[in-house]
Order: sequence, then structure tokens, then C-alpha cells
Amino acid sequence: MIRIEQLHKTYRAGQRDIIALRDINLDIAQGEVFGIIGRSGAGKSTLIRTLNVLERPDSGRVLIDGEDITGLGHEALLGLRQRVGMVFQHFNLLNAKTVAQNIDWPLKITGRYSREERAARVDELLQLVGLDAHRDQYPSQLSGGQKQRVGIARALANHPRLLLCDEATSALDPETTQSILRLLLEINRKLGLTIVLITHEMEVIRSICDRVAVLDGGAVAEQGRVVDIFLRPQHAVTRSLLTQSHAWDAGESLYQRRPDGKLVRLTYAGDIAAQPILSQLTAATSALATIVRGTVSRIKDTPYGQLLVEFSGDADALAQVLDRLQTSDIEHEVLA
Ligand SMILES: Nc1ncnc2c1ncn2[C@@H]1O[C@H](COP(=O)(O)OP(=O)(O)O)[C@@H](O)[C@H]1O
Ligand SMILES: [Mg+2]
Repeated sequence: MIRIEQLHKTYRAGQRDIIALRDINLDIAQGEVFGIIGRSGAGKSTLIRTLNVLERPDSGRVLIDGEDITGLGHEALLGLRQRVGMVFQHFNLLNAKTVAQNIDWPLKITGRYSREERAARVDELLQLVGLDAHRDQYPSQLSGGQKQRVGIARALANHPRLLLCDEATSALDPETTQSILRLLLEINRKLGLTIVLITHEMEVIRSICDRVAVLDGGAVAEQGRVVDIFLRPQHAVTRSLLTQSHAWDAGESLYQRRPDGKLVRLTYAGDIAAQPILSQLTAATSALATIVRGTVSRIKDTPYGQLLVEFSGDADALAQVLDRLQTSDIEHEVLA
């Protein structure tokens, strides 16, 4: 659905050139949830903004359904922005308008619908995002999560085929983040809408994305299926984003290294997540397994686990455990 070809973008800041995008090539399929992750300044916002021509690249092309959008004129751009909805980190709502009026706004400015048609569409959207009871409230009366629901309803008003989300959950607490992500996934499935989202949080990628591209310094460091990137991250930036995710924050202070221990990171996905893997790895040996940190969860629909485990015991027992790991479907890395 979207093809990004050799995209370059440089900003001029005083005497300096800042290269924001370097030779970006990506393909995004119809109906998928595609994530773009990277640290602050990696070029994520610049990249997503080229997909609705809020930014124009210096060179390269962006094709949407085969049409190069980078050179579109004013009229054609208005049409494009109706087919491409966008959700922002800070919601960008009109504070003097009610919830219903905010959602109506993009319908009104097309000049294409009667008052009745617009009212019916606004009702539909209020239902979809669960804000029926709040239609006459003003943004200042809403929670962050409710504001973002308005932002999502507004972005969907004109039946776009593509939804762009720029850090849509970054201003929200973890629980609200999950409820907004569930809403996005429901919309993706119900409407078959393609979603491109950018985030600096691996948890967001893990929850709803099918595929992900990791941006670093304006370039794609790696890209692939989320499961593959979680199991076998190739790039240092990806590894650091993975270990920063909050599942890894707690627990470290409880841990005391044993002199005969080996610290190993285990990562696995699929049916294996339901198996007693630590028992299987240490069975009939004298090795012991101590969990240092861990998460057992899902990557979208796939069961997934990542554990930091210290195996301890005599040299033979440890060698046996590592042998079993080699022949298992568990990705592992001996850290110390
Ligand atoms: N309008 C601008 N003028 C100058 N530099 C910019 C502008 N917008 C972004 N940049 C720079 O381009 C780089 C990429 O920015 P951005 O796309 O916002 O990254 P991200 O969204 O990943 O944090 C950064 O170095 C940023 O400072
Ligand atoms: Mg940004």
C-alpha cells in the first residue's frame, strides 16, 4: 500500500545542515499495523510526516496505492489528507469546540455532506471510540485517554484508508496507553485500516504491531516481523530499546550474583512459552535456575517470554544446560 523509496530529508538550522532522513526504503502492506521506533531525534516524526506531505523530502518518493504523493499540488493534497488520518501526541483538539464538534470539523470543511449526514457520522464515531456520554463536553473536561479517543474519531471521520499515529500514547499513563492501543487494534481489524505508528517504546510495538522498522540517526537500522526483531535483534539500538522496556526495570536490586553462576538472557516465542523450560533445562542435572528479571506476555497474538536467569552449579551441570539451550528453540545470550 505504501512504498517509500530512497527518501532523504535535510533541515537547514542556521549554518548547519541536519540530516533527518537518510536513504529510507520501506514497504507497508494494506491492513497491517506497522511500527517505527527509535530514540528521540532519530527522524520518526519527519518520516511519518512525509506520508501525508506535512514534510516534503529533498529526494526519493512516497507511493500510496501506486501514486507518488511527494509532488502533489494543493488541491490534490487536500484530497490525500482525507484519505490519510493523523493522530498526535498532544491531541491537537479545538478547545472551544465540544467533543462532537471536534469530530464533525473535518467533515464540515470538506463541504461535501449535509448536516444530517454529518450528525449520523459523528454518532457512529462517538460509538466506535466509546464517547457517547461525552459528546457535549469540552476537551478541558476530558482525561488524556478520552482526548485521544476524540483525536482518533476525528482522524477517522472521512473514512481514511491509512491512519498515522505520531507518539499517540506517549502522553498517557501505562493503563490508558493499553486501552488506546486496544482501540487502535480494534479499528484496524474492524475497518481493515492500515496503521503506521511511531513510538519510542517497545511495549507499544509489542502490543499491536505486525512489523517494525528501527530508525537510528535518520536511517533504518533494521526492520522485520516484530516477533523476529524481539527474538533476534541485530542492531545495538534495537537491543538497547528492548532492554529499556519497563518489564526490565524492577528486580535488579534483589539479585546477588553467585560465584558459580552464569547470567543468561532467554527469549522465546510461540507454543514454547507454555512449557516448563527452566525445569527442562536443568532436569537431571545439579544446576539451579534463579530468575533475575523477566516478562511472559504476548507479541500481538503470539505468546512470548524473556527471562534473565542465573544458572549455577558445577561446571559439568552448567555445560549440560548450555548444550540443551543450543539445541532448543530458545534464543539465548550468555551475559556474564
Ligand atoms: N523543523 C526543523 N528544523 C530543523 N531541524 C529539525 C526540524 N524538525 C526536526 N529537526 C531535526 O531533525 C532530526 C529528526 O527529528 P524528528 O523527526 O523530530 O525525530 P523524532 O521524531 O524521532 O524525535 C532531529 O535532529 C531534529 O532536531
Ligand atoms: Mg517525534
